[in-house]
Amino acid sequence: MFREDLASIPSYVPGKRLPDALKLSSNEVTQGPLPSVREAMVLAASAVNRYPDMGALDLREALAEQLQVGMDQVAVGCGSSALCQQLVQITAGPGDEVVFPWRSFEAYPIFTQVTGATPRPVPLTEDGFNDLDAMAEAITDRTRLIFVCNPNNPTGTVVPEQAFLDFMDRVPANVIVALDEAYTEYVRTEDTPLTTELISRYPNLVGLRTFSKAYGLAGLRVGYAFGQADVIDALNKVALPFGVNAVAQVAAVESLAQADALMERTDEVAQERVRVTAALGLEGISGESQANFVWVPADCEAIGGLEPFALAEALAAHSVLVRAFPEGVRITVTTSEESDQLIAAWQEVVGA
Ligand SMILES: Cc1ncc(COP(=O)(O)O)c(C=O)c1O
Repeated sequence: MFREDLASIPSYVPGKRLPDALKLSSNEVTQGPLPSVREAMVLAASAVNRYPDMGALDLREALAEQLQVGMDQVAVGCGSSALCQQLVQITAGPGDEVVFPWRSFEAYPIFTQVTGATPRPVPLTEDGFNDLDAMAEAITDRTRLIFVCNPNNPTGTVVPEQAFLDFMDRVPANVIVALDEAYTEYVRTEDTPLTTELISRYPNLVGLRTFSKAYGLAGLRVGYAFGQADVIDALNKVALPFGVNAVAQVAAVESLAQADALMERTDEVAQERVRVTAALGLEGISGESQANFVWVPADCEAIGGLEPFALAEALAAHSVLVRAFPEGVRITVTTSEESDQLIAAWQEVVGA
């Protein structure tokens, strides 16, 4: 019944859930929506007999103002995941190649294979950075799209600004580069590219951001892309009609209006990730995390030879859920109370 290559497409693995356990496996925030966001959602809920505004005008207007771009330069989608998928759909088909860092956001290879294109994963550097030189070298005349994950999920590293500019200068003008900035609100270094400034310099550059992380609306599924109007127009052509629901649209608009209060929460995370890194014995073993999670490489001394999946299971037995990969373990950083709980469980498991 199914297309021949379907069995070879990996399935997306969501972070673990367990009632009453501390969930540090999906890079979510702990706090619920602000009261005014909740109120806007309740109001919108009473009108869901109508389809949402397909053009998401209010949301795109607010985003355009925040990003200082034209409204025709912003597209919204059902999470930035949808926009990643649309980017593959507008650029690549069978025989084409999509380059991305690996290990990175696990949807990149899935979306690539769904369109029938060929994934070209490029290993991270030893200390967990997107290897921009190797990614530039991986470009062939069949390359249609490149994802750069900044900060990288799951290692938390960012690409330095000059290295990114040098990389962009090596990418042919007809290859789109998507700078995936899902965690950009947590970045505290200035030495990294700002897509808002670069999209006018590089017409083939697209920024991807989301309301799922720092804005705390993961359950509503809303993200956005910004770039040159012709790319945004193409993205909208392949979008699922009415993909961003009415409740999500108003919640996102109100969250943008409350950005200052929401961004304050990111300061706690930025402080906590330093404390958690030290408490878990992870200082200096991979690039400093600039996201709302820390990375524990499989071969690091801090876990004394414990295999990533075994470590995740042992922490789960202490009611702390983290995300294991063959290369290591990713742990979401949230509030100081939750960090205390994590550190206590960690000490039980690895005796740090
Ligand atoms: C790097 C990266 N990009 C994009 C996404 C997609 O987020 P969403 O679809 O919730 O906007 C995620 C989610 O975990 C991510 O880690």
